[in-house]
Amino acid sequence: MLLNIKSVLWMCSTLVVTYALHKVKVEKSPPVKGSLSGRATLPCFFSTLPTLPPSYNNTSEFLRIKWSKVEQDKTGKDVKETTVLVAQNGNIKIGQGYKGRVSVPTHPEDIGDASLTMVKLRASDAGVYRCDVMYGIEDTQDVISLAVDGVVFHYRAATSRYTLNFQHAQQACLNNGAVIANPDQLKAAYEDGFEQCDAGWLSDQTVRYPIRQPRVGCYGDKMGKEGVRTYGFRLPNETYDVYCYVDHLEGDVFHVTLPNKLTFEEAKKQCVKRDAVLATVGDLHAAWRNGFDQCDYGWLADGSVRYPVSVARIQCGGGLLGVRTLYRYENQTGFPYPHSKFDAYCFKRKLFFIMILRMRFGQKRV
Ligand SMILES: *[C@@H]1O[C@H](CO)[C@@H](O)[C@H](O)[C@H]1NC(C)=O
Ligand SMILES: *[C@@H]1O[C@H](CO)[C@@H](O)[C@H](O)[C@H]1NC(C)=O
Ligand SMILES: *[C@@H]1O[C@H](CO)[C@@H](O)[C@H](O)[C@H]1NC(C)=O
Ligand SMILES: *[C@@H]1O[C@H](CO)[C@@H](O)[C@H](O)[C@H]1NC(C)=O
Repeated sequence: MLLNIKSVLWMCSTLVVTYALHKVKVEKSPPVKGSLSGRATLPCFFSTLPTLPPSYNNTSEFLRIKWSKVEQDKTGKDVKETTVLVAQNGNIKIGQGYKGRVSVPTHPEDIGDASLTMVKLRASDAGVYRCDVMYGIEDTQDVISLAVDGVVFHYRAATSRYTLNFQHAQQACLNNGAVIANPDQLKAAYEDGFEQCDAGWLSDQTVRYPIRQPRVGCYGDKMGKEGVRTYGFRLPNETYDVYCYVDHLEGDVFHVTLPNKLTFEEAKKQCVKRDAVLATVGDLHAAWRNGFDQCDYGWLADGSVRYPVSVARIQCGGGLLGVRTLYRYENQTGFPYPHSKFDAYCFKRKLFFIMILRMRFGQKRV
């Protein structure tokens, strides 16, 4: 007991000493969530009462804010650091890839707030960020992780290419556990590397497609330049494919196989046997975004056959990442015949809320 008090006292005195020399406050904030093309604010607060050398009277000259994105190894040690933003003496420098997308409050010293606001979020923005605030002789450090939900995917009806009018396009996304994507979401997906040479409806009734590698047949209105092609605003009775958006997965997607593989009907039954249903195309994409990786074609609820690649390998989709689709014909149209044999991807809703309800119900009855 005595020993404990002594060591506490000792700790206090060392704390006081370091405090007087150079105060470093390290905080760890809870993770922040954002959605593709949306906005997120990474919090970072500091004391507005800096300890300044007595001769100085202009406090903003003593404030330096630095935001970096850090990559950590398994032990949590920083291994790579990219500068996102540095604000000092009224100057702001913004790192490559963050131009026009990040900001901090205009007078951080008045409110003790150096939080970073990010807009037009990309999937690649997900990760760990650190803010370093030097104010007077005080240093504040905070580490915040950012998660970005949401995937945009191309959807083609079972019948053929370009068969969906605007209304059917919206319905096709809903039927597949998603909604029709908006232009900002498609743009953000493009910035992350999404490429698809097929014109598809978006929520504002325009028709566009994202091209990273301009080539014959995919020039659109941009010729040799990379970017999102647009056909502009179209009449609702014209027909194209569609781009859908799914935000996050509200359950689990899992892979099921049997020695002789499964027809479409057998696949449905195997999921039901496991208290689940065939996953939608939206479910599979959301699971893929969470890192689901399985190199086997499997049935989905709409009768299409696909698999998710999140670890690049030559033998799985030629080393590309994404959800691969198996079409009936070489011209990339039609779903496989329902009697052909593949695996299955099942979806099971999270039981979390049901469990809470049961627990509360159970308590009442006790
Ligand atoms: C304090 O501020 C005034 C003007 O705001 C300036 O003229 C003066 O030099 C400053 N004092 C010091 C010590 O920096
Ligand atoms: C304080 O310093 C900042 C940045 O150098 C400058 O913009 C501002 O005018 C200064 N304020 C005063 C009161 O001197
Ligand atoms: C779409 O509707 C317009 C009139 O509303 C009509 O002139 C046009 O022929 C239709 N296009 C198609 C592809 O059906
Ligand atoms: C694709 O190929 C199939 C079979 O060869 C053919 O029936 C269909 O018309 C083609 N569709 C398109 C859009 O070229």
